[in-house]
Amino acid sequence: MSDTASLEHEALASIAGAADASALEALRVEYLGKQGSISALMKTLGAMSPEERQEKAPAIQQLRSAVADAIAARKAALDAAALEVRLASETLDLTLPAPESPRGSVHPVSQVMDELSEIFADLGFAVATGPEIEDDWYNFTALNMPESHPARAMHDTFYFPDVAQTGGQSASSSEAAGRKRMLLRTHTSPVQVRTMLAEGAPLQIIAPGRVYRSDSDATHTPMFHQVEGLVIDRDIHLGHLKWTLETFLKAFFETEDIVLRLRPSYFPFTEPSVEVDVGFEIVDGKRVLGGSGDAPGHGWMELLGSGMVNRRVIEMSGLDPDQWQGFAFGVGVDRLAMLKYGMDDLRAFFDGDVRWLKHYGFSAFDQPTLSAGVGAKS
Ligand code: PHE
Repeated sequence: MSDTASLEHEALASIAGAADASALEALRVEYLGKQGSISALMKTLGAMSPEERQEKAPAIQQLRSAVADAIAARKAALDAAALEVRLASETLDLTLPAPESPRGSVHPVSQVMDELSEIFADLGFAVATGPEIEDDWYNFTALNMPESHPARAMHDTFYFPDVAQTGGQSASSSEAAGRKRMLLRTHTSPVQVRTMLAEGAPLQIIAPGRVYRSDSDATHTPMFHQVEGLVIDRDIHLGHLKWTLETFLKAFFETEDIVLRLRPSYFPFTEPSVEVDVGFEIVDGKRVLGGSGDAPGHGWMELLGSGMVNRRVIEMSGLDPDQWQGFAFGVGVDRLAMLKYGMDDLRAFFDGDVRWLKHYGFSAFDQPTLSAGVGAKS
């Protein structure tokens, strides 16, 4: 037997006998590694004369590929055997419960806003939005509250520091006069003006969003939520307002037993203005909506502000008040949520306590729809 033939014989025998992956790897290094015996043979080719190389090279090349093939084959066999062992020893328990994936919940404020959008969409209202950082023209002036108007004091407004546009220095009072002051909007009513200016008339919108007032106790937080409603068209009157509010409140509270009382009131941006109360009864110390507030054991609860849009507001919003009238209302979203779902401390809404959210939150599957009921959590 030639040298290469006997080396091949020996190598193939030991490869076939390699018991595991590491023994096989040791053999690979021994034959084909940098210092391996076959690698050494390959190197000798370089020093040979062309004739000698032509004679000996094929046998050495053949040896090298035979050994490489044998190692690959043995490796495949060992891997297959290892897999067999695993398959035989490991079992898969299909009855084990799958690991639970954490699920969040929808905040009641988001849920109620969705419910409101659903109800008003059914009545033909679109959803409009405006910025939370407003200027005093939209928040006050255009709503018929000029600079000196005492009604501005009704709002505990968060103003931004009056800073000059350039240089970041405080503006002198004469400079500041006539310039718009920036503030956190105190109500969603500026969206009335913005939408009329942007879209003209006729118009049917609601505008849900955050508003800010410097106020804090169990039923007031410095940030809270309102939804504004606005209808502008020809020949709109208080009857439309009353019907709209009644229809909305019955759908929202999912009861026909809603009795409203319209009480004369004052807002600079509506004329006439009406405050809307809803009748309730005290049951087990809790207020339950329903019935006339004048019935024995009942009372009236103030729910929202509304009225016919003041013609000055329509004018400042770029429309002709002799052609266009409308009504508007504003209602606290958090308050609606508290009434419907029975929370009693508004501050808990914004504490971010996960336990509270678990209890009062909604599943993402509780999508409000008018056909399935807007308060999907029953
Ligand atoms: N913007 C008023 C408030 O925040 C509510 C309101 C809106 C009243 C629209 C009348 C019309 O108190």
